[in-house]
Amino acid sequence: MLPPGQTYQLLRHLTSPVVAVTSERGGKENGMILDAAIRASIVPTVPRLSVYVHKFNFSHDLIFETGRFVLHLLHTQQFDLIHRLGFASGRDRDKLAGVPRRRGVLGAPVLDDCHAHFECRVANVMDTGSSTLFLGDVVEVGFGAGQAPRGEVMTAAYFRAHMPAEWRPEYEALLQAAQRFAEAKSREIKALVWRGLAP
Ligand SMILES: Cc1cc2nc3c(=O)[nH]c(=O)nc-3n(C[C@H](O)[C@H](O)[C@H](O)COP(=O)(O)O)c2cc1C
Repeated sequence: MLPPGQTYQLLRHLTSPVVAVTSERGGKENGMILDAAIRASIVPTVPRLSVYVHKFNFSHDLIFETGRFVLHLLHTQQFDLIHRLGFASGRDRDKLAGVPRRRGVLGAPVLDDCHAHFECRVANVMDTGSSTLFLGDVVEVGFGAGQAPRGEVMTAAYFRAHMPAEWRPEYEALLQAAQRFAEAKSREIKALVWRGLAP
């Protein structure tokens, strides 16, 4: 086995683009950032994607309890949105205040500005101990408020290479805190039956 740090650097090649995931419960709207999204179907008529969301995030509970979310591919001019949604929790503030948006067909917010968006209904879940993998059926697709994809997709590598230098210490500290949480919880895997699949 390689040293853990080296293994982690290799696994980082599997990181996804940086996306914004929005959710809504009882009128409370929220958004977060993640870079753990995967295309989960090769069938054009069965579009699916999946996301890993840590359990300490407010968004986790909103998505788990409502079974719906919207994933937004971002473009390379959206650093401020990443800072707003990804560096603080919606438990502490209304992060979407002032962010132009509308309610999508499932009721969760669709952000006007993005490269493209996918409205998803949760089809299944998997517990990892520290996070939940949500498998989403894509029920609607669009380009935010636009008619076509906007800009170039914000990859994780682009974000890390170009984020403002003054954000980096906070980014590293948040990542380390998340890693400590995940290390403590990763072995406590529960068998879950998603309610839509329950007999
Ligand atoms: C570049 C970047 C990537 C992130 N990737 C993930 C991720 O893959 N999964 C996750 O659960 N959180 C991820 N986060 C952290 C959440 O976005 C962050 O904890 C956020 O404050 C959660 O907000 P909430 O509590 O309002 O849901 C990422 C943050 C950034 C800035």
